[in-house]
Amino acid sequence: MTENPPDAAEHPGATRGSSASLEITRPDDWHLHLRDGALLERVVPATARRFGRAIVMPNLVPAVTTVEAALAYRGRILAACPENADFEPLMTLYLTDETPASEIEAAAKSPHVAGIKVYPRGATTHSSEGVSDLAACVSVLEALASCGLPLLVHGETTAPECDVFDRERVYLEETLSKVIDRYPTLRVVFEHITTREAAAFVREAPARVAATITPQHLLLNRNAIFEGGLRPHHYCLPVLKRERDRLALLAAATSGDPSFFLGTDSAPHTRDSKESDCGCAGIYSAPVALEAYAEAFASAGALDRLEGFASCFGADFYGLPHNASRVRLAEQPWSPPDWNGEGESAIRVFLGGQRLRYRVEDARL
Ligand code: NCD
Ligand code: ZN
Repeated sequence: MTENPPDAAEHPGATRGSSASLEITRPDDWHLHLRDGALLERVVPATARRFGRAIVMPNLVPAVTTVEAALAYRGRILAACPENADFEPLMTLYLTDETPASEIEAAAKSPHVAGIKVYPRGATTHSSEGVSDLAACVSVLEALASCGLPLLVHGETTAPECDVFDRERVYLEETLSKVIDRYPTLRVVFEHITTREAAAFVREAPARVAATITPQHLLLNRNAIFEGGLRPHHYCLPVLKRERDRLALLAAATSGDPSFFLGTDSAPHTRDSKESDCGCAGIYSAPVALEAYAEAFASAGALDRLEGFASCFGADFYGLPHNASRVRLAEQPWSPPDWNGEGESAIRVFLGGQRLRYRVEDARL
């Protein structure tokens, strides 16, 4: 499939087993970038109005490497939330080569820190302080394995000679699978998986290994980056893959297997930093994410499985209760706006201008 999400009218099986609208437990986003400062204020409302909780990524500048910094960042996020928002940010620490095991133990004791994030150094946006060799972080991995705090993994090798489309598969083979074997109690979320190999690995792995899947990797393949010209707003990391990979991810997400759950990887960048000689990686999907997942699930005739993926399996993995409130997705075709903001600092909204079949009721953009 290409840039366009499936047109619901072409998928008569899409609502099989369901009525025209769908009510589900309020979902959570298990992988989200909120940034800081003025950008944080612009993007947090879209998530806070739709999701009960979100795992907030720590790749700020400087990176969020300590519990103290994470709690301060949490305070800024809460201050930027709309009034009466029913939203809980779950914080993460950014692992560096210098992170001491004592910081992991402190994180495990904090009710507000939910995971430790590893970026292979140089793999993606703001990853220059990331880890040079995960397998060498022995004391940190031992601490994680004994305290049960999950390790959240950006799974791509940074070997310059490795083809960009092979980076996830190679990291899985050379690094991640070995670390998972070596620490039998380590809990791992393989973040934003993009390949059929990653989906198969997680399906076969023990229950302590899970994966998040983004809306763009369920709806688009790599043709979308080159459709009629270069499309910088479809560039994210890990980069979109082949159609066979998209189909494997869609099958995994809609399978009902609790190892796969929602993580938007919504990653806002301003227009000037995307439409540039060396553009940033990241797709801003928060305002349309739930609707985009609904399109993907409808295309597979699996809307009845959206609730598990969006609202239950992630909470179960993190040992948290399901949200008490519910959201309603009405069958009400609409077109999201193209942009959040104006001019050079505008942020392109994923699927902006396209026709979506479902809309979250009572949630402004
Ligand atoms: C993310 C960002 O911009 O922070 N970008 C992206 O393409 N997904 C970083 C990340 O999750 O890789
Ligand atoms: Zn991310």
